[in-house]
Amino acid sequence: MEPCHQFAYPDEAALGEAVGRLRALPPLVTSWEIEALKAQLAQAQAGKRFVLQGGDCAESLDACTPDEVTSRLKILLQMSLVLVQGTKKPVVRMGRFAGQYAKPRSSPSETREIDGNEVTLPSYFGDIVNGAPFTEADRTPDPERMLRGYHHAAMTLNFVRSLCEAGFADLHHPEYWDLRFLSNAGLSPEKRARFESASRELASALRFMEALGEKSVDDLSRVRFFTGHEGLNLYYESAQTRKVPRRQDFYNLTTHMPWIGERTRALDGAHVEYFRGIANPIGVKVGPDADPVELLDLIDVLNPDGEPGKLALITRMGADRVEEVLPRLVRVVSSAHKRVLWVCDPMHANAMTTPQGVKTRSFDDILKELEATCDIHASEGHPLGGVHFELTGHDVTECVGGAAGLRAEDLHQNYTSSCDPRLNYEQSLEMAFLLARKLGG
Ligand code: PEP
Ligand code: CO
Repeated sequence: MEPCHQFAYPDEAALGEAVGRLRALPPLVTSWEIEALKAQLAQAQAGKRFVLQGGDCAESLDACTPDEVTSRLKILLQMSLVLVQGTKKPVVRMGRFAGQYAKPRSSPSETREIDGNEVTLPSYFGDIVNGAPFTEADRTPDPERMLRGYHHAAMTLNFVRSLCEAGFADLHHPEYWDLRFLSNAGLSPEKRARFESASRELASALRFMEALGEKSVDDLSRVRFFTGHEGLNLYYESAQTRKVPRRQDFYNLTTHMPWIGERTRALDGAHVEYFRGIANPIGVKVGPDADPVELLDLIDVLNPDGEPGKLALITRMGADRVEEVLPRLVRVVSSAHKRVLWVCDPMHANAMTTPQGVKTRSFDDILKELEATCDIHASEGHPLGGVHFELTGHDVTECVGGAAGLRAEDLHQNYTSSCDPRLNYEQSLEMAFLLARKLGG
């Protein structure tokens, strides 16, 4: 069986050697953490929690810096507090980081004209596979990169854990999570007033809950982060998949919740075969052309015992098609009495290209898909369980729209994503406020 579709390592001996070394290294996460997440996802599936997942489209090894890690945590933490306030539920925070290094591509190769000649090289599959520059040396899949990916994921996780331990995410330190940046943002007076009153309410709700001294406050004030990434590179995933003492099952110990991408979820494909053998909670991306019968088969294969919290269907239908296709899928799954966690990814089917040729997404399309998805789940009788965003804590200019009214002409100012366009800091927070309002009813 060819374990990874799309790309191949030319040097089999080097591949075997790298995988062997990866197998011998300690795990990045533990089965206790994985099971704790599964229990929380089971609660989210039952409508008692809400899941917030977010991060870069393609995490780069170079982005393993203190600034990148803290700014990602900060925006996720701030959004989660807005959602706690809106949903009145605990929020499960999950980063798309510490391993989001492999990217599926629509074509396995890319052709460019160089000095009048057509040159074809493998596409860029993310830093864990090959390099982005268009040279033969960079684009040749290099197994050594899996070890570099592992080390960078370990450093990222180490820093995230230390920050959480040291109180970065402790709500007793409002300087980390306050929303004062809004006073600098170019917002309309109405929007600013709404944001300011929401942030005042949020602060007073937290103070109120602290004053009550309830146990649940501990949940709120000591924050933890889980991780997830697309499990595309099966050499990497399986090298860190093992049995742990006193447990029966195999765990993927590179991350808490890996997911299967839209392009690799074929029932008879290598990814589904690998994923059905692990005990982690898993996600599956589901696009607008998903066949309802195949979806039921996929649920049976990936979660044959109907274990709560085990399987998240991460739908990414597009603002234009969500109302046409999602209700049927939701109905088919619930009529078959299958229990899954429904998560909305309003990013991946809303891509567009500006007249200037820049890949972007519109804030309004993202919001439209998100709101329509909330309505569809509510009318089918069970609430949406979570959201999945591509976002950054920085002031990038990659998606158009939002309160600051970013236009296509502005995108060149700070476009740094090496893959899909992300919501910037302000757009992310605004999205959280709008979602909180929607979910809060
Ligand atoms: C992604 O999450 O970056 C991605 C490629 O998504 P999808 O599999 O939904 O296209
Ligand atoms: Co993406």
